[in-house]
Amino acid sequence: MKRVLVDELESGMVVARTVIGSDGRALLVQNTSLSEVYIKRLHLLGLQSVYIKDGLSDIDIPEVVSMQVRSAVSNQLNHSLQQFSSKRALDVKNLRNGVSMLLDDIVSNHNTLIHLDDIRSHDDYLLLHSLNVAILSMMTGLTLGYNEGNLIDLGLGALLHDIGMIMIDPHILNKAGGLTPDESEEVRKHPEIGFNILRTFREIPTRVTHIAYQHHEKVDGTGYPRQLDRKTILEYAQITAVADTFDAVVADRPFRKGYSTTDGMIILRKLVNTFFDPEIVEAFATNIAMYPVGSLISLNTGHIALVTSATKINSSRPRVNVVCDSNFNLIYPNFEIDLQKTNEVSIVKRLNNEETDMIRCQLSVQKNPVHDNPVEQHCASL
Ligand SMILES: [Fe+2]
Repeated sequence: MKRVLVDELESGMVVARTVIGSDGRALLVQNTSLSEVYIKRLHLLGLQSVYIKDGLSDIDIPEVVSMQVRSAVSNQLNHSLQQFSSKRALDVKNLRNGVSMLLDDIVSNHNTLIHLDDIRSHDDYLLLHSLNVAILSMMTGLTLGYNEGNLIDLGLGALLHDIGMIMIDPHILNKAGGLTPDESEEVRKHPEIGFNILRTFREIPTRVTHIAYQHHEKVDGTGYPRQLDRKTILEYAQITAVADTFDAVVADRPFRKGYSTTDGMIILRKLVNTFFDPEIVEAFATNIAMYPVGSLISLNTGHIALVTSATKINSSRPRVNVVCDSNFNLIYPNFEIDLQKTNEVSIVKRLNNEETDMIRCQLSVQKNPVHDNPVEQHCASL
C-alpha cells in the first residue's frame, strides 16, 4: 500500500486501510474502489491522504489496538468531550474503562509494533491524536515496566493531555501557515487550562492532571509553561511528550504531509537531551517498526525486498520477500528470507518514498505488457 495525497487520487484506486472518524464510525472502508464522488467527499471531510493498494506491498498490517476497540474508545472520548463542552461534566469512570480496554489490547499484543500512522481528518485531529498518544504512551510505560495501575493513570493523562485545547479558538488551531505571536501565546495556554480543568475532578489523581500541565516542558528547561527541567518533570509527562511529538509529526497537518514513522523516529532522536530524556526515547523506539511491514528495503546482496513480518522479536532482522534484483528486474516467483535465520544477508537501508515509487513503477511496467516503452520513459517523471 502507499499513502496518496487526496489531491492525487484517481477513480478506480482501491482503499487499503479503513479510516475512522471521531465518532468511531468508518469514514472510508478498506477495499472501497474510489469514484469521483468519493474523492470529492474525501476533500469535504478534510482528509489529506489515504492508504491505497499498490499491487506490490498490500499486506495486512498487524494492529496493536483493534479497529473495534479504537472505534469504541474514540466514540467514548468524543462523547465525554462534548459533555464537557456543554455541561462542564466529565465521565471519568467511562474514560478509565476506555483506557482499560486499550491496555487490554496493548498487553495482548505486546510483541506487535507500530507500523503506520493513522490517517485522520482535520476535524478529528485532536480526538484521534489524543487516542494515539494514549496508546503510544502506555506501550512505552509497559516497556519501562509500569504496573497496571500506573499504566491506566498514564493512559488517562495522555488521553486528556490536550483537553485545554477545547478552550482555544479552533480557527487558530486549524490555521494553515504560521501563527502570529499573539496566536502562539494563546495556544501555549492550553497546558495550564487543561490542568485547571482536570483538577476540578476529585476522581482524577494529581499525577494525571500534571501530565496535561507538563507535557510541553523540555528536559533542558526551555519548555512551557513553567520551564521545568529533567529532574522536575514527571516521568509520565515526559513519556506523553515523546508520544505527542511523534504522533504530531507523522500526522498530516493543514500545512504539510505527515512524515513516515522512520523519519518520525529520526526527528525524536535529534531532540534527545534538549526536549526528551534518551532512555524514554529508546523505550518508545522499541515499539516502532524500524522496517515496517509493507516497506521496501535493499539488501547487501543487491536485491530489493518487501518486509512481510516484523515484531519486537525480529524488528531489526524481519522476514522479507525478495521482489527484484539490483537492476530492478522482477524475480518470479519471489522468495522469502527470514533474516533471523541467516548471517549472510543483511539490510542496507529502508528505501525512501521516491525510491519505492520508482520500483513500483518499474515493476508495473514489467507486469503490464501494454507498457512496452523503455522503463526509463515511464519512470522519468518520478
Ligand atoms: Fe499540547
